[in-house]
Amino acid sequence: MEIVVLNGSPRRGGNTDALVMSFMHGAFESGNAVIINNVTDFEVRPCVGCNRCFKSDEHLCWQDDHMQFIINQLRCADMLVIASPVYFYSISAQLKALIDRLHNPVRDTFKIKQIALLCTAASSNPRAFDAIKTQYELLCEYFKLEDVGQILAGGQKEKRGEAIRPYVELAYRLGKSIR
Ligand SMILES: Cc1cc2nc3c(=O)[nH]c(=O)nc-3n(C[C@H](O)[C@H](O)[C@H](O)COP(=O)(O)O)c2cc1C
Repeated sequence: MEIVVLNGSPRRGGNTDALVMSFMHGAFESGNAVIINNVTDFEVRPCVGCNRCFKSDEHLCWQDDHMQFIINQLRCADMLVIASPVYFYSISAQLKALIDRLHNPVRDTFKIKQIALLCTAASSNPRAFDAIKTQYELLCEYFKLEDVGQILAGGQKEKRGEAIRPYVELAYRLGKSIR
């Protein structure tokens, strides 16, 4: 399996990174190829809704940034992993901007069949993930993707504190289960 991770956390070495790295180790051990994209390393401007990509032959966006690079990766991927800290009950703005740019007919050429979600939040309230879960489930339904797992790590008040450990183990096991 070729797995592409879109990590929306801008904080390197933080809680979301911990889940992503652990997932990657598990997935590697099961023989998968994993590409991690830290979204904040890229310049991806927000969609402006002009729909020009729907009209042009090659479906290229007029915005000359790194989105085409991500799209080229997604063309080859079998599985997508969405990773993000909870920011005001949603995914990070940087990750949302990237996902919005998939409002492009090129997405119909993707062969991605499976998807997973890795999220962290400071709050211990399980409802902290409700909006993200709803968005994620609707995306699965719309794109006919199989949800292979969700790691929702609440209670992360510290940067990579003790509280992340059990979730790191769960992320590893999720990665390992992918074949
Ligand atoms: C801008 C911002 C907004 C946040 N909003 C929430 C929130 O709505 N609910 C919550 O539980 N935690 C919230 N947090 C805390 C982060 O989700 C939490 O610390 C997370 O584990 C950080 O992940 P990271 O280490 O990858 O940066 C917020 C943090 C920031 C910086």
